[in-house]
Amino acid sequence: MSLIEQLTALGADGLASIAAADSAAALDAARVDLLGKKGRLTGILRGLGALPADERPAVGAAANRVRTAIEDALTTRKAALDAAALDAQLAAGTLDITLPGRARPIGAQHLISRIRDEIVEVFCGIGYTVAEGPEVELDFYNFTALNHEPQHPARSASDTFYVVDRSTDAETWTGPEPSDVLMRTHTSPVQIRTMEHTKPPIYILAPGKVYRRDVPDPTHLPQFTQMEGLVVDRDVTFADLRGTLDYLCREIFGSQVRTRFRPHFFPFTEPSAEVDVSCNVCGGTGCRTCKGTGWIEILGCGMVDPNVFAAVGLDPEEWSGFAFGLGIDRIAALRYDLPDIRMLVEGDMRFLRQF
Ligand code: DAH
Repeated sequence: MSLIEQLTALGADGLASIAAADSAAALDAARVDLLGKKGRLTGILRGLGALPADERPAVGAAANRVRTAIEDALTTRKAALDAAALDAQLAAGTLDITLPGRARPIGAQHLISRIRDEIVEVFCGIGYTVAEGPEVELDFYNFTALNHEPQHPARSASDTFYVVDRSTDAETWTGPEPSDVLMRTHTSPVQIRTMEHTKPPIYILAPGKVYRRDVPDPTHLPQFTQMEGLVVDRDVTFADLRGTLDYLCREIFGSQVRTRFRPHFFPFTEPSAEVDVSCNVCGGTGCRTCKGTGWIEILGCGMVDPNVFAAVGLDPEEWSGFAFGLGIDRIAALRYDLPDIRMLVEGDMRFLRQF
């Protein structure tokens, strides 16, 4: 048989064995047998060298035709086998493609996070940055550096959660006294931590969780969320504080809101004030939410006390500043007219889904 005849026979044989292959494995075996390195086509072409040069092109062309025909047949057969395998799998399986898909419920931000982010956004717009501090805090940062007297009532064990580490051996322990470690009762210690390691001018916000030994009731939680603000710069005045907080209140409650600054006392600011906003429910005429007063207290603030600057080594003659602290849970309750702030932490989906 001439090489051309052998090639023609290989083509016919090959197409037949491809058509007969009834699995992916059988098809692959046929491919290797026909076109593989040690396969039949290679075997035939080995005879090419013995041919006179003028006969070689015709044999080469015939070989290419046969290869292409076999390759096309392999591709077609592979597609047919794959389709058959899928059909078989679908027929055998229990998959019901007419069932509706599984819905993924879309989550939403918690009200507290939403208000926190909103306030952060308002202040980032006027150049503030966010600072953080630990929730397990030292007495020094939570009280002493913030100018609290040793006998200040907030320091009592009935107001503050102290962290007592009973695993430490009192003989060898060199860290802080257990009674010096507590759950921070406010975000104000972040003021001290920031001033300790940042040179003024300082414009920061510090949102975070705080802890107090309160029994949960409609207006109290033992863990709640505050937002601290601190500004330290040259020639900061009470007018700057007022302007900043008026701006904040209008951004949160709308441009119709009125604010009222009432003198108050905080150990770490002098003078200090509490800020009320006009009641959003009755517009200021008096209702149940504002207990008939038309006003609702939302934050404490004041000018940074010189003793606080001294505690962090800043010269009170050179630097001045203001600070404020507000309760985010309280603002959430006001804004969304919640009768009980415990709803914010109970995780009841019927409540949370409404927002
Ligand atoms: N830390 C105070 C509290 O939890 C709130 C507060 C009042 C923060 C006055 C301040 C401030 O920064 O200046 O009751």
